Amino acid sequence: MKKVRWGMIGCGAIAPKFFNSMKRVEDGEVVAAASKSILRAKRFGRKTGLEQVYGRYEEMLDREKLDAVYIANSHNFHFETAKLCLERGVSVLVEKSFTRNAKEAEALIALAREKNIFLMEAMWTRFNPAIVKLRELLADGTIGEPEHLQAAFCIQMNPLSPKMLPWNRMYNPHLAGGALLDLGVYAVSFARMIFDQSPSRISSSSKMAWTGVDATSEYIFDYPGEKRAELISSFREERTCEALITGSDGIIRVPDFMHPSRLVVSRPGRAVENLDIEPDRLNDGQRGFQHEIREVHRCLTEGLIESPSMPLDETLEIMQTMDALRAQWGMKYPGE
Ligand SMILES: NC(=O)c1ccc[n+]([C@@H]2O[C@H](COP(=O)([O-])OP(=O)(O)OC[C@H]3O[C@@H](n4cnc5c(N)ncnc54)[C@H](OP(=O)(O)O)[C@@H]3O)[C@@H](O)[C@H]2O)c1
Repeated sequence: MKKVRWGMIGCGAIAPKFFNSMKRVEDGEVVAAASKSILRAKRFGRKTGLEQVYGRYEEMLDREKLDAVYIANSHNFHFETAKLCLERGVSVLVEKSFTRNAKEAEALIALAREKNIFLMEAMWTRFNPAIVKLRELLADGTIGEPEHLQAAFCIQMNPLSPKMLPWNRMYNPHLAGGALLDLGVYAVSFARMIFDQSPSRISSSSKMAWTGVDATSEYIFDYPGEKRAELISSFREERTCEALITGSDGIIRVPDFMHPSRLVVSRPGRAVENLDIEPDRLNDGQRGFQHEIREVHRCLTEGLIESPSMPLDETLEIMQTMDALRAQWGMKYPGE
């Protein structure tokens, strides 16, 4: 079997998870990785056993024959890094948040379409088997028409963690930090998926960190027909990570909606149903990125330049919604 040859860009915290997930994908392999720092690249090589590591992105792209690149550097670099790959004709899977803002997303999408090259936002949760099942249930009308969504994605970070330092990407405006682009994007994307449209009205509030990025924010999205999503993201506060979808004919609760393995369906006059959808776990017990990687491979095999499950127009709308939220808070990244 001819394997899809992957390069990785960005050798930080999330990179080993992608590398390990690839071991679960029969027709793919990571052949090289690149960082802006050769020390970081070598450390990643030692940790994973990967031999080909580079201290410059361009060097990896020039030397290696790659079918696809996974980009996992900080948000501020996503646009220029993805552009670099697309200009060389290499397919791209770029971590969330796709770019810093909608303007960058639009330019990247236009470039991929003009060059006829595959591009996708690595919204890995979309490809989780429980979320795939959830979409089937909604499409089948199991709870009627979705009318209300409540979802929170909050991780209270230890104030002594290095992630809380102002130069870390979470807190640093120069690296396009903040809870919205890091955590809130999952909730915004989830709402886009449930209601199949962008909100017609947005009301929000945010508590800012002293570095000028959002630390906790709450947002209400209104849609035509009095439908509504109430969402929260924070890296300061702890909340139950759960999504609750209320439809005209029932309710679906998604416990741990970031790593779901159960859907709880309640319908009037029927017993509550627990649907257990065991995800395919990694050897270390983690639920990983193998599902999104398989989707990239499927698209490449079928000659698709975007995934029907995570289309580029939807990614653009998600970036536009996040731009609108940041505009309400008067939050701009340097250079915007
Ligand atoms: N899907 C998920 O579950 C998940 C989870 C966490 C994060 N993410 C996403 O994955 C991406 C990376 O996250 P991470 O947690 O791996 O981040 P990280 O460890 O803080 O940094 C990742 C990489 O970003 C670049 N970077 C970070 N800080 C920098 C700085 N001060 N100056 C210059 N470059 C810097 C470096 O790239 P180089 O090595 O190339 O120099 C670094 O290796 C982000 O888009 C994030 O939102 C996804």
